[in-house]
Amino acid sequence: MKKITINQSKQFVGETVKIGVWLANKRSSGKIGFMQLRDGTGFMQGVVVKANIGEDKFDQFKALTQETSLYVTGIIKEDTRSSFGYELEVENFEVISDSTDYPITPKEHGTEFLMDNRHLWLRSKKQHAIMKIRNEIIRSTFEFYNNNGFTKVDPPILTGSAPEGTSELFHTKYFEEDAYLSQSGQLYAEASAMALGKVFSFGPTFRAEKSKTRRHLIEFWMIEPEMAFYDHDDSLEVQEQYVTHIVQSVLKNCRLELETLDRDLAKLEKVTTPFPRITYDDAVEFLHKEGFDDIEWGDDFGSPHETAIANHYDKPVFIVNYPKAIKPFYMQVNKENPKTVLCADLIAPEGYGEIIGGSERMDDYDELKQSILDHGLDLETYGWYLDLRKYGSVPHSGFGLGLERTVAWISGVDHVRETSPFPRLLNRLYP
Ligand code: 4AD
Ligand code: MG
Repeated sequence: MKKITINQSKQFVGETVKIGVWLANKRSSGKIGFMQLRDGTGFMQGVVVKANIGEDKFDQFKALTQETSLYVTGIIKEDTRSSFGYELEVENFEVISDSTDYPITPKEHGTEFLMDNRHLWLRSKKQHAIMKIRNEIIRSTFEFYNNNGFTKVDPPILTGSAPEGTSELFHTKYFEEDAYLSQSGQLYAEASAMALGKVFSFGPTFRAEKSKTRRHLIEFWMIEPEMAFYDHDDSLEVQEQYVTHIVQSVLKNCRLELETLDRDLAKLEKVTTPFPRITYDDAVEFLHKEGFDDIEWGDDFGSPHETAIANHYDKPVFIVNYPKAIKPFYMQVNKENPKTVLCADLIAPEGYGEIIGGSERMDDYDELKQSILDHGLDLETYGWYLDLRKYGSVPHSGFGLGLERTVAWISGVDHVRETSPFPRLLNRLYP
């Protein structure tokens, strides 16, 4: 008998197969029982008919508890009533290991309780769907950059410099020296782009932000492309093509998962190139018209502002050319308005906030040196980064996409804590 996984069911209709599973849930009514089976690849119903398996086995079925692991054998049948499309007519089962008092029962639980049990909560159907979508975003990210001539590079996690400002750094000792957990791989991606042309990195980044919002994690993963000889407009094109590619890939390859999450597909289907662009100046004017009197030119936008702007569009929207004073030291000054920089934040629709931050990089040696000094940063620490402007400097641009915020938006889940298997939050280091 063939041992298969649930997601292979389609190829085995009418055949007797064996599947290793956990019992996610069950119910029975007299002579017939239903097992909700899961095996990591998917969820499937098993039908247990007393007349087929005998009275003893049926009693054994009735005594099974939630999350017991089993080998089930049976015949794969088409099942047009379920969205999965197949079910297993159970002929026999064998307990691998039992499970007593599983804490996450089919009833409703509070968020803190679920977070305390994150190691188990991950098994539930909704969390499974989110992790599969996360995986599809990662898979299609590699596909996009590999198909477009980018080389993957891996910046260090332990670093001596801070690209995004020094207030949110995780400090550690590096033997006798001070070190920080990476906030962004950007500076290393820039150096790599001067060696390899178009590069992208994908790795964990850390921000000791005291923010307790539905968009902030302490540890999150970032995809950071960096392109030599690309100006900022070239970079915006890459961004909209990339984001469209991952959304379309999830729509194509994660239909069941999106359905499990009740995601409104029509909203995702609207995500096509090009994306609208609005300047920071126009955004401020728009916000004033919308009644936001709390914003003045020069202020950074908060989530209510981003949401108000995003709600005006049905695609992600670029806000370009922010004031220089509220952005990091490395951004290229906008020659047309030197109080602003050549940068953009990409704001996701439906209130999911900023998913990308990017810019053209300052490529003039003297200008960058001055900017480092103006920001009170240590020239010695950034000497190697300045070198990139000393030996054949070229225009170049790049950006960082936050994986978890992107997963939240595409999955339609409210809070980034559900988009990471083991999220690090302000008050949470366990499990
Ligand atoms: O806008 P940020 O800070 O940009 C950078 O770090 C640049 N160095 C990237 C680059 O140009 N290579 O962060 C980029 C993205 C944000 O748009 C957001 O999606 C995500 O990273 N992000 C966070 N996600 C979850 N929790 C946090 N605390 C985040 N901070 C930023
Ligand atoms: Mg940003």
